[in-house]
Amino acid sequence: MVAASSSLFLIFFCSLFLLFSTSGAVVPAADTFQYVNSGGFGEFDSEYNPNYRPLPPFTTPFQLCFYNTTPNAYTLALRMGTRRDRSVMPWVWEANRGDPVRENATFSLGSDGNLVLADADGRTVWQTNTADKGVVGFAILPTGNVVLRDATGNYVWQSFDSPTDTLLFGQSLRIGGPNKLVSRASVTENVNGVYSFVLEPKRLGLYYKTMRYWSSSFAEVNKDNGDLVNATLEVARTEYVDNYFNSLRCRMSNSEVEPTLDLDILRYNSTLSYLRLGIDGNLRLYSYRQNTRGNAWSLLFTLFDRGVSERGRRSRMSLPDRCGKFGLCEKSQCVGCPTPDRVFAWSEDCVAKLPGCEAGGFRYYELKGVDHFTVKYSAGTGPVKREDCESKCSKDCKCLGYFYHTDRSRCWIAYELKTLTRVGNSTSAAYIKTPIR
Ligand SMILES: *[C@@H]1O[C@H](CO)[C@@H](O)[C@H](O)[C@H]1NC(C)=O
Ligand SMILES: *[C@@H]1O[C@H](CO)[C@@H](O)[C@H](O)[C@H]1NC(C)=O
Ligand SMILES: *[C@@H]1O[C@H](CO)[C@@H](O)[C@H](O)[C@H]1NC(C)=O
Ligand SMILES: *[C@@H]1O[C@H](CO)[C@@H](O)[C@H](O)[C@H]1NC(C)=O
Repeated sequence: MVAASSSLFLIFFCSLFLLFSTSGAVVPAADTFQYVNSGGFGEFDSEYNPNYRPLPPFTTPFQLCFYNTTPNAYTLALRMGTRRDRSVMPWVWEANRGDPVRENATFSLGSDGNLVLADADGRTVWQTNTADKGVVGFAILPTGNVVLRDATGNYVWQSFDSPTDTLLFGQSLRIGGPNKLVSRASVTENVNGVYSFVLEPKRLGLYYKTMRYWSSSFAEVNKDNGDLVNATLEVARTEYVDNYFNSLRCRMSNSEVEPTLDLDILRYNSTLSYLRLGIDGNLRLYSYRQNTRGNAWSLLFTLFDRGVSERGRRSRMSLPDRCGKFGLCEKSQCVGCPTPDRVFAWSEDCVAKLPGCEAGGFRYYELKGVDHFTVKYSAGTGPVKREDCESKCSKDCKCLGYFYHTDRSRCWIAYELKTLTRVGNSTSAAYIKTPIR
């Protein structure tokens, strides 16, 4: 008994020793830093038209900066582009969205290897939690990945593992890891918006809050009954160099098949591209071309494009906010503001009257040939009778209306109406709740 516990004691000490010897590595004094958020502002065009202060860490074309869109509320972010481009430079990674810092905040790497953003009062706002984990150096790689390296060159921490609304080339989403991009609320407000782009085991999906408005249709996932494990922004090679294209390439758990979201042809032989989930919930790929006379950025791909499903692209009508809070969309145009009596011309002010909660205090009006933005990409419930679909909505105070397909007897309950799409199909209809005056 005594022998057993003393050997346990020994093991404890040995592992403690191992712990200290591996974490004994320190960042050389010359490579530690502390930058203070103070001084003059930079003068070149950056995304969201902010004030910004460039920091010394810079690897062409990436630079860390503090920027703000409202006074004294700064984000530490990685900017892409150089002033020689004479183009607006986008923010492709951010440390502290939703938790801004003030003047005199500090960004530092201590000899313990922890990277810390602290506010002026010393409060830690963001950190990599890498103290005593063997970090010996910091770098911005030419890919835009900000890394903390250990003595063997492995990354103890990398910014590629904490995307905000942007994926850079070579960056991945993973099941069980960073699996989504979240939109920014608005140009001036740097907090999480309502949209997300999510890698799930069975699909890539776009969500407005919890409502799906797009998903990938990967036949391979159903056919092989496999699960997606990661999705990486990369170049897909084909037989001909001219036909190389940008893609979001997925890997699967139990199959060699690699389902791919095609993001259009590669141009300029450049891998300095980024995929952005926009403030509007749209997904776009931009490609960068250094040392040009014109704009260094080209928009190569837009998921929801103008016009209707041309070349397999999705119409913008599927964007929940396309026609604001309430509106009828037809052929990519906002064409109507429905009311119980008639459909008026659409305007920004178009809203549905809130029905209230009182039983018998509301009724429904019908809009024929109309779908909700969720209908195409979610199954709804059913088969169910329309009366039952309606009664489900009537019993639910938060339900603003329901959508019904007569051909398959399917029912969708809507808690937000937003953009309704005219589908020109007599099997679809919307039933909108309205108060009885
Ligand atoms: C920032 O710190 C400097 C030096 O301590 C001080 O002079 C200055 O007033 C501070 N600025 C703000 C806005 O607090
Ligand atoms: C993606 O998943 C595949 C299969 O599990 C794995 O071999 C590969 O290393 C992963 N790639 C990334 C970037 O995580
Ligand atoms: C593209 O660039 C790479 C590296 O810069 C180079 O090796 C390759 O030959 C280029 N390909 C074409 C088609 O220009
Ligand atoms: C109408 O719905 C039916 C059944 O879902 C479908 O087969 C048909 O293609 C649709 N027509 C149009 C114009 O969308």
